[in-house]
Amino acid sequence: MANILAFSGSTREGSFNKKILKSAVTGAKDSGAEVTLIELSDFDLPLYDGDLEHLQGVPKNALKLKELFLANDGLLLALPEYNSSMSGVFKNVIDWVSRPTDDEDAPLSCFKNKTAALMSASPGHLGGARGLVHAKSMLENIHVQVLAKHVCVAQADKAFNDEGVIKDETTRLSIEQLGFYLAHIIDEDDDKDKTHHREVSMTIQRC
Ligand code: FNR
Repeated sequence: MANILAFSGSTREGSFNKKILKSAVTGAKDSGAEVTLIELSDFDLPLYDGDLEHLQGVPKNALKLKELFLANDGLLLALPEYNSSMSGVFKNVIDWVSRPTDDEDAPLSCFKNKTAALMSASPGHLGGARGLVHAKSMLENIHVQVLAKHVCVAQADKAFNDEGVIKDETTRLSIEQLGFYLAHIIDEDDDKDKTHHREVSMTIQRC
């Protein structure tokens, strides 16, 4: 069963990205995944500063986030686009959790074997697509496998009903499917790994 960490790169109360994320979480759960949905506003962090890290170590909330990254195979990320790129809040989280926390800790350890699905929502006509290009490139450089499929919701200021659910059924389903697909891919990779380990151990036994 896939374990997935889900969060939005927006801390705003009425965030459109938080709303679309809920649909993706529904899809992932439908696929049988265990999903941990968090709000970054519950993990208040200073801006990354090397001197602060040197003097005080990695902040407690960054350690908690890192634990969550380590405990999950998948990342469901709904990322607002700020000035054609990702939000500072999201990038700051990535910078803090990327830091090694003890001598045994390899750099970027918490991104190892992670698969991510990305989505975005914006009042603009591109739905935040340009921000996802930067986010995808950054995540792939730190060893996260990012699904080629992503969803962007344009004109997000008009996209939701009073309950915060996406009004257009096709859009809502495509986001649910993104969550479903992420969970499915992780399960499939898991099965491949198990088969591979079984084959290797059988070969070892034969030797
Ligand atoms: C924006 N916004 C924005 N939208 C967009 O489509 N492309 C962009 O480059 C930007 N740039 C940008 C910069 C800054 C500093 C802000 C505050 C906003 C608008 C943005 O998409 C909008 O505020 C969304 O509502 C943010 O996402 P949440 O908070 O609704 O999830």
